[in-house]
Amino acid sequence: MTIPHTTRDTMSALERAGSGVWPARTSTPTVKVNDHGVVPPVEAPSPGAHLGLDDEPQGLKIALPVVGTVTLVRGMEVGLRGLRLPVGTAMEVVGTVQSVTGDVVAVADGETRLALLGEATGISGGTRVRPTLGNGQALGGELLGRVIDALGRPIDGRGPLQARHGRIDRPVPPALTRRRITKAMPVGVRVIDAFTTLARGQRVGLFAGSGVGKSTLLGMIARGAETDCVVICLVGERGREVREFLEDDLGADAARRAVVVVASSDQPAQVRVRALHYATAIAEDLADQGRDVLFLCDSLTRFALAQREVGLAAGEPPTARGFTPSVFAALPRLLERTGPRESGTVTAIYTVLVEGDDHNDPIADTVRGILDGHIVLDRRLAHLGRYPAVDPLLSISRLAAKVLPSSQLALADSARRALAAAEAVRDLVEVGAYQPGTNPDADHGLAVSPNIVELCRQGIDEITPINETFATLTQILREDSVKAAQP
Ligand SMILES: Nc1ncnc2c1ncn2[C@@H]1O[C@H](COP(=O)(O)OP(=O)(O)O)[C@@H](O)[C@H]1O
Ligand SMILES: [Mg+2]
Repeated sequence: MTIPHTTRDTMSALERAGSGVWPARTSTPTVKVNDHGVVPPVEAPSPGAHLGLDDEPQGLKIALPVVGTVTLVRGMEVGLRGLRLPVGTAMEVVGTVQSVTGDVVAVADGETRLALLGEATGISGGTRVRPTLGNGQALGGELLGRVIDALGRPIDGRGPLQARHGRIDRPVPPALTRRRITKAMPVGVRVIDAFTTLARGQRVGLFAGSGVGKSTLLGMIARGAETDCVVICLVGERGREVREFLEDDLGADAARRAVVVVASSDQPAQVRVRALHYATAIAEDLADQGRDVLFLCDSLTRFALAQREVGLAAGEPPTARGFTPSVFAALPRLLERTGPRESGTVTAIYTVLVEGDDHNDPIADTVRGILDGHIVLDRRLAHLGRYPAVDPLLSISRLAAKVLPSSQLALADSARRALAAAEAVRDLVEVGAYQPGTNPDADHGLAVSPNIVELCRQGIDEITPINETFATLTQILREDSVKAAQP
């Protein structure tokens, strides 16, 4: 990564001066005893301020060593001495082949550990390391329509970006500054709009095995959602899948109102970790300008695997199924950053891989507890060609009741009960042991469920307005009651 000229110049000037430290404050801050004889507390600098993350480098006034040296290189991990910098600081390792950036991920035994964002080739013991003092990464509306990597560099071949820069490791907004969730976010996918109606500012998980139709469904949602813009984070996918998603699932029209951040599986773990932090910051920033943002992350599991890789390399102990504590620390922080904000909203959908249909792996478990709902894709439905393979009985939106008119909520409930009643007697029906007339609920369920299933089935290019979905559902449920009323 290139560092801004100002930074580079400032650094070389300092290094030339041979001091190895930033110019110290010339006068020590004086603390006076006030009228009551009390020493007022000295204000602590805000986190990150010492790195000038929000300032021009010239604004720095605190003593700071600028160069450390590499003492360890192991895989994508680098240990260094001579610099004491906090976790999260971006560093530049000046190797013989190229300069590589890395993030401080741990401090152990007096040594600072970095996770590299590029190749370790050319780094040896004694290689110099310094903080990048960058001004963060590209943010803002200029990113719409672009495909970028985890460091904010365009990868769509459409020229350089003219964007504002800002921090990507933002704090979680305080609970009471968030606006209330009041409005629905129709996504144009009938089974979701009817059975797991999303709210603006809601965060849901999309739980599924591989190849069940997650990417296709996310593409449909990105095209059909009633939102101002879409931020899509693709973490850990194979390169081929990324291209397919952009060209086939998302399509050119939806891409114009979307920012896509890509960190494919071949990239270093820390790059994949950073991609989600960065994409989250882009969504937060767009929402802070008053927009309703839809945030799609595929996949959160691959992010967790990348964070685990970084954690294990930095010496963290493996705890739940090999996942390290930093994974469980990072997930709630990241998932809390989306949601309603002071001026706009970030509605987020995170895909979670459930391999071998194990819905209880530690990541799925943790995520389910944090989010306000889950959409479950069922491989059996996919095998039956019932796409999108959402299981309406296992999926739930905890906020549907807050955003749907009571009439539509009642319709969705009746439809769900009808499906459940039909499901309960399905085995009996299949072996011919069910006698129609024994259970009125089951009879109603069996009568309407084929039409509900048909409503849920949807072509990839179809987008249905939510009112139309509920109108069809009303009709389906009414038809059976009319039939039942006839002698
Ligand atoms: N709505 C749909 N209609 C028809 N086929 C679908 C649909 N969604 C998914 N598929 C099929 O499932 C395959 C895998 O979908 P994909 O979205 O790539 O899954 P995942 O992202 O979960 O691995 C697709 O190639 C397609 O054949
Ligand atoms: Mg996929």
